[in-house]
Amino acid sequence: MLGAQWGDEGKGKVVDLFSEKFSIVARYQGGHNAGHTVFIGDRKFVLKLIPSGILRPGVQAVIGNGVVIDPAALLDEMDSLHGAGIDVAKQLVISNRAHVIFPFHRIVEKMSEARADRVPIGTTSRGIGPCYEDKTGRRGIRIADLYNREAFCAMYSALAEDKQLLAQTFNIQDTIDYEQIRDQYLKFADCIRPMVCDTAQLLNDAIRQGKRVLFEGAQGSMLDVDHGTYPFVTSSSATAGGACTGAGVPPSAINGVIGVSKAYTTRVGSGPFPTELSGVEGERIRKAGNEYGAVTGRPRRCGWFDVPLLRYTAMVNGFDGLVITKLDVLDEFDEIQVCTAYRNASSMPATYRELEAVEPVYETLPGWKSETRGLTRADALPLRARDYLKFLSDHTGVEIGCISTGPERDETILIQGSKLTALL
Ligand code: GDP
Ligand code: IMO
Ligand code: MG
Repeated sequence: MLGAQWGDEGKGKVVDLFSEKFSIVARYQGGHNAGHTVFIGDRKFVLKLIPSGILRPGVQAVIGNGVVIDPAALLDEMDSLHGAGIDVAKQLVISNRAHVIFPFHRIVEKMSEARADRVPIGTTSRGIGPCYEDKTGRRGIRIADLYNREAFCAMYSALAEDKQLLAQTFNIQDTIDYEQIRDQYLKFADCIRPMVCDTAQLLNDAIRQGKRVLFEGAQGSMLDVDHGTYPFVTSSSATAGGACTGAGVPPSAINGVIGVSKAYTTRVGSGPFPTELSGVEGERIRKAGNEYGAVTGRPRRCGWFDVPLLRYTAMVNGFDGLVITKLDVLDEFDEIQVCTAYRNASSMPATYRELEAVEPVYETLPGWKSETRGLTRADALPLRARDYLKFLSDHTGVEIGCISTGPERDETILIQGSKLTALL
């Protein structure tokens, strides 16, 4: 299950809901740049690095090899979940092949975002990009390396030297105590040791035993490093293919792909956004949908549903079904617009410059002007809301199998007989 837009589609809520039907929930990319808000009764959880499946007792939560881990952020999150009565130590396993984020990764990111000759991406400042750079540059340090003190110290010295050279070259004033960080990381490693294993082996064994695994994407397809709005993307493979490389399971083991999309569109950070609404209309959606980033608190940019975008992410991911979230946010609108085409582009443009230049073609649909919040049955939806959903499904070519009508677990409509419900 993964995001069909630019992230924050409500994946956390949906994963939490569906995880009831799975033995294992596995994350395969990203890091603590993700922010998934889940409400269970009057309790609110914000998950960043740990899969949302952890909130179900008995579900095993896996952090796969494709994830980048900041151990301090991980321990913080583990502590707060533990404080909320969740048996994290028992439920969570961590890949020995996941790469490690160090404090100097954040400094490299700050430098790259601030340079006058570079377009800032508007990142979450968590060191995600520079950690993946070191991974691809084949100088990264993985969780398994932390358990061989001698090898780790040698790798760490080499990496630290690289960063010091970079800092000197670019005249960066941040002082970093490299030795203190190294010792601190060795302590972090001790804390998580019982949870570290070969998660690809664990997942493949589980699949062979007939256990059901839900792969939980972070970010969204349009933030995918290959298929998103490059360079305004994150540094990992947020699309469905990423589940195989980021968890170590073969494509043949995946028997369905579920996309999660809002009933409108949002984006955080910079980059093209064809259906973005500036001014009061955007503000109206932001207010109704409480569209503020869970990680950075930044106001999310808001706009109408974008069919060409959804068709594109459906193509890249092969969605079997869609979850449409936050339908209730549109309850008060007299009219709702949907972008059905880009006038001057027949397929998704490769460059952000071209995407910035597309002219969205809109169709206007009447609003339903009544409360859908909390509805749990499709036949209880106002006719115009049903028409709106049918319009989205007809135009995107993907069946809608689930509709979210509020942040709570039970504020959800499952469409019986859909391909999506058959996967659960
Ligand atoms: P994620 O990153 O995809 O997990 O999404 P976020 O958690 O960052 O953002 C989605 C926000 O919308 C969260 O605050 C959820 O509690 C909330 N949410 C999810 N589904 C619904 C819904 O159907 N209606 C409303 N009103 N809020 C929702
Ligand atoms: P979830 O999992 C929305 C965005 C950042 C920035 C770009 C690159 O909650 O959907 P990064 O720090 O990853 O290098 O930033 O990606 N971004 C997200 N936007 N939801 C997220 O995660 C995001 N994770 C990263 O805002 O534009
Ligand atoms: Mg989020």
